[in-house]
Amino acid sequence: MSLACQTLQTVDRAAVVSPKKDVCSSFLEFFAGSGLVSYALAPYFSAVWANDVCPKKAAVFRANHADTPFLLRSITDVNGGLLPAAMLSWASFPCQDLSLAGKGDGIRAKRSGLVWEWLRVMDEMPRRPLILAAENVTGLVSSNGGSYYRELHQALVERGYKAGAMLLDAVHWLPHSRPRVFIVAIDARMVIPFGLADEKPNWMHSAAIQSVGAGLPQWIWWRLPKPVERSSTLSDIVDFSLPCHGAETSKKNLSMIPPAHMRRLEESGLSVVPGYKRIRNKRQVLELRFDDVAGCLRTPGGGSSRQYLVIKQGPEWRTRILSPREAARLMGAPESFKLPGSFNDGYKAMGDAVAAPVAAYLAKHLLFPLAAACHDLS
Ligand SMILES: C[S@@+](CC[C@H](N)C(=O)[O-])C[C@H]1O[C@@H](n2cnc3c(N)ncnc32)[C@H](O)[C@@H]1O
Repeated sequence: MSLACQTLQTVDRAAVVSPKKDVCSSFLEFFAGSGLVSYALAPYFSAVWANDVCPKKAAVFRANHADTPFLLRSITDVNGGLLPAAMLSWASFPCQDLSLAGKGDGIRAKRSGLVWEWLRVMDEMPRRPLILAAENVTGLVSSNGGSYYRELHQALVERGYKAGAMLLDAVHWLPHSRPRVFIVAIDARMVIPFGLADEKPNWMHSAAIQSVGAGLPQWIWWRLPKPVERSSTLSDIVDFSLPCHGAETSKKNLSMIPPAHMRRLEESGLSVVPGYKRIRNKRQVLELRFDDVAGCLRTPGGGSSRQYLVIKQGPEWRTRILSPREAARLMGAPESFKLPGSFNDGYKAMGDAVAAPVAAYLAKHLLFPLAAACHDLS
């Protein structure tokens, strides 16, 4: 069985009762990208509408979710009054202005500020969804002293929600380091079912989340069980039959590896090691990591954001770029997940996606039980 199949058993499709095909199990997916959230949530919720502005991502979404109505348009043009009723609204809103790699223009900036459009659309709906979920990079809670999260939290409270943030790293499920912040908000009138919230911070609450959450009105310390220890490693997802760069290009790439990393590479005993090219002291270097886990996938904006693999071939090391299918595996997509378009399109579609097993875990242990309990309010 391939790793992707094993991984997605953690989505636990078979164990879930058939979702009710009504408002109580329906969800809206904003910033849907390639649709891994719709895929991950499918055992628990049915996507009744999805939106993204990117035509190439729309092609991936439509190839995998032919039955979901998809609106290819900017969220700024979405009229909430025309949307179907739903229990849950999910937004993996753009991270560029919050990510540590970006210029950090903040939650009012052009791209990450689209989160306000999401709330505007919710305001226009005849009835706001009882549950909201948002996903973003850790800068949402840690940048600017936590002020970005506080501003968003305040906006949720003003709309009648109570909310909390959690840090979930895909590395618990997949050989992929991808820490992300998930915010879950529910109608403040709702009594939270026993076992879904704690009195105090737990394993999902990083120092930044503890600092931002403490003392906020209508704050919830959500509780999820700790995931079981991951057994898969990077070599499980790598396709060793794919061609590497030729001797000359490999040699050039290997020459960019810092001497200390080259020594570790030789001593590592690993057959594949991932790395990114970065500029250090005005020089391009290929920095490797040795924990048998891929670095956080990013959307390729330039050559430096593609992840490299250094692969042992006989006595030699060769290099190549991670393939789109390997990127999809690192996101927990099944082998059957379609990636139409070019190599770059596929890589890009996966680069800023939500890791499916993480979304599925959140749905299984929190969103689905909340939706069941929200039934009486709906
Ligand atoms: C972080 S990604 C979300 C990826 C997605 N959840 C997935 O799993 O593939 C942010 C998405 O926001 C989309 N986006 C950016 N600007 C937008 C806009 N004005 N309206 C709608 N979507 C937009 C991007 O195309 C991108 O797919």
